[in-house]
Amino acid sequence: MQRRSSRLLIGLAVLAAIAGGLLGAFLSGGGGAPRIAVPARHGSPPALKLPLGSAVRLDAAQQDKPYLRDFLATFTSLTPENAMKWDETEPRRGHYTLGDADALVDFAQRTGRRVRGHTLVWDQQLPAWLTGGSWSAGELRQVLEDHIRTLVSHWKGKVESWDVVNEPLENDGTLTRSLWLNVLGPGYIATAFRAAHAADPDARLFLNELAAERPGRKQDALYALVKGLKEQGVPIDGVGFQNHTTVGNPPSEAQLAATFARFEALGLDVEITEMDVTIPPHHPTTDRILARQAQAYRDAAAACANASRCTGLTVWGVTDRWSWLGAAKRPTLYDAHAGPKPARDAVLAPLRK
Ligand code: XIL
Repeated sequence: MQRRSSRLLIGLAVLAAIAGGLLGAFLSGGGGAPRIAVPARHGSPPALKLPLGSAVRLDAAQQDKPYLRDFLATFTSLTPENAMKWDETEPRRGHYTLGDADALVDFAQRTGRRVRGHTLVWDQQLPAWLTGGSWSAGELRQVLEDHIRTLVSHWKGKVESWDVVNEPLENDGTLTRSLWLNVLGPGYIATAFRAAHAADPDARLFLNELAAERPGRKQDALYALVKGLKEQGVPIDGVGFQNHTTVGNPPSEAQLAATFARFEALGLDVEITEMDVTIPPHHPTTDRILARQAQAYRDAAAACANASRCTGLTVWGVTDRWSWLGAAKRPTLYDAHAGPKPARDAVLAPLRK
């Protein structure tokens, strides 16, 4: 009898181990060999007082050796460009595909880079089952909490900070009419932050917004929103300013400094999360235009370096070849042939130790 029950116990343990392994493999998309090969000899980035990051695409990191070399020579932080978005991570309800993001997180860990998680709640890059569904508030809230809990706990201790809510505001300062707002009301923002905090209390949680770098209606609305969250005791740690901008009219160092000080006064960290500086596609690549681009990057880095609570600057793409805006706009620090542009040294200078 006893032998039989111990055999039963062993059997159950084996089954549990297999199920656990399968679940782990299912969640991580496999295991085995690293999916981004780190070159044996690669440049290490300069010693910096603050993290300098880039958005990284798995396909580029796998296929384009100069892209990987440039990343390793310059950046100390990595944001998965798309791999953590909802359409990629939960393409069917409750079916999680985290393998591509795992490959990026694993690469960051092997090379000692910080990871910013991007992004848990947004109105874009959502799967059809979510946007096409008809949801009660209770159901959708459950879906949102399950998604956040699954992702944040999967990378607990590995993702240093999360863009929990992305781009909640319109330019006129009203909340974007998304699935989230329509079904859950404005409280979806607090719900998302609370769920993320419960899953990893050590991760720093950000609200990330575009086109709020300068004073104006949108910045005022962003300020009121995060101030309200703080007052309600919602676990928000910081505000991300994307800073997608142009050579013609980038925010100045003084404007960014004032913006950072305004949000820091609420007890929040700030960060530049997605910077790029577009050159008009028809404009030739002259030294003058590259110098203006470099100045825009330098100004942002200097504002961050001199702020009391700016915790990093991330650019949106390693090389122009892979930029989401297209190579013709030449918006990143490295050209289409992966060579450094003046902007590369310009952004590094204020961040050096
Ligand atoms: C972009 C990616 O770079 C593209 O590859 C994708 O097709 C669309 O999304 N604001 C954000 C980022 O918060 O997630 C966006 O990234 C760029 C704008």
